[in-house]
Amino acid sequence: METQIKTTTDSWQLLERSIIYYGDRPVGTVAASDPSVEALNYDQCFVRDFVSSALVFLLNGRADIVRNFLIETLALQSSDKQMDYSHAGRGLMPASFKVMNEGSHHYLVADFGEHAIGRVTPVDSCLWWLIVLRAYVKATGDLDLAYQPDFQQGIVWILKLCLADRFDMYPTILVPDGAFMIDRRMGVDGHPLEIQALFYAALQSAREMLLPGYKRDIYLEVINQRLGALSYHLRQYYWLDLKRLNNIYRYRSEEFGTSAINKFNIYPDSIPEWVHDWMPEQGGYLVGNLSPARMDFRFFALGNLMAIMSSLVTAQEAQLIMSLIEQRWQDLVGHMPMKICYPAIADQEWKILTGCDPKNVPWSYHNGGNWPVLLWFLVGAAIKTGRMELAQRAMEIAERRLADDGWPEYYDGRYGRLVGKASRKYQTWTIAGFLLAKSMLENPEQADLISFREDPGTLDWLYKLQEF
Ligand code: GLC
Repeated sequence: METQIKTTTDSWQLLERSIIYYGDRPVGTVAASDPSVEALNYDQCFVRDFVSSALVFLLNGRADIVRNFLIETLALQSSDKQMDYSHAGRGLMPASFKVMNEGSHHYLVADFGEHAIGRVTPVDSCLWWLIVLRAYVKATGDLDLAYQPDFQQGIVWILKLCLADRFDMYPTILVPDGAFMIDRRMGVDGHPLEIQALFYAALQSAREMLLPGYKRDIYLEVINQRLGALSYHLRQYYWLDLKRLNNIYRYRSEEFGTSAINKFNIYPDSIPEWVHDWMPEQGGYLVGNLSPARMDFRFFALGNLMAIMSSLVTAQEAQLIMSLIEQRWQDLVGHMPMKICYPAIADQEWKILTGCDPKNVPWSYHNGGNWPVLLWFLVGAAIKTGRMELAQRAMEIAERRLADDGWPEYYDGRYGRLVGKASRKYQTWTIAGFLLAKSMLENPEQADLISFREDPGTLDWLYKLQEF
């Protein structure tokens, strides 16, 4: 008990120390404060990393930091600088930013991917920004901030960017490789689950944040249509359980026309062998990606857990995902909650998909490493589904090691027993994620900040689509 209290106080102090100031205003948190390695860009505030800190601050009377963060990142979104460097449309939010201090002159420098290793596009940032804005409004009741003209403009720019007409047949968003938490080449280009789950939550957030009026009515119509089409598409085509696996196993291919059952022309031979035995009798999950003749069967944790919290999946599917996690606990949670994806890719596949990335060797980093930040996503999903015993179990595992190991960024190995080879210590989202998970476990209603109820409007659309 005493160690537990000490762990919590220590982590609070560490989180406070990670706060970045812009002049005298707190605006974010650094990604990591590991004195033993070169900072690279870990001394910056990453939008996706700040989400965990934001939720902790909102729950602990520090909404001012979140408000400042939202204001400053919004100002970066519309800066001309961005337009110089990037050819992406307005609405894109930076992956990260840092404060530059030159004497008494302070300014922010943002990275939209033009400095990042591999020049990856941070598609998730604008989606997270909307989700954080909604959480801020929920926690503080300060809808006035969202209703300010610059915020309304920012929301509309994001919507325009995400809902624009493009060369694509699906309601999902098409993105380049490494466009989210997995920000390196990992064969996650196309229509990766994580982006779709964040998109679903972001659209719901935008819907709540639009100022009532004529413009809102137009956007509501478009948003509702997209939410309906998106959940239909994901539930219908990404869902995998034993029954569906059996169907795919016996699929005929080369079907043409509207009556095709195997719509994406998935060849049964492309089913990896591990899935056969790994899929439990009772359980299921959303696959990692889908496009013509390509179904990525890997289990991606953040996408599945956000699909539960955002109600992208039905209540029944949410239970089945949690049952799968329970039955495959050793593989997915093991010695540190939890694996970013399962299983790791190896050999020739690793060479082709990662481009021989030495950081993403099997069971390390993005390629099957265990990331403690995912603890709070697991706890949030467990609360939503009433599976508190799983949240408790995961918390106990994390609590045993995190502080002693120095709050690592990730763990390596088949079951996550080793601190990651190139892992940073004192990683902020590990620290904030732990505090958030602990707090939500003690006060489950706090998970409402990041959860969405199943929406009747979306259901209407589903019924309409099913009539076709
Ligand atoms: C790594 C992670 C990325 C994270 C960043 C800062 O690049 O892959 O998701 O945002 O570190 O922590």
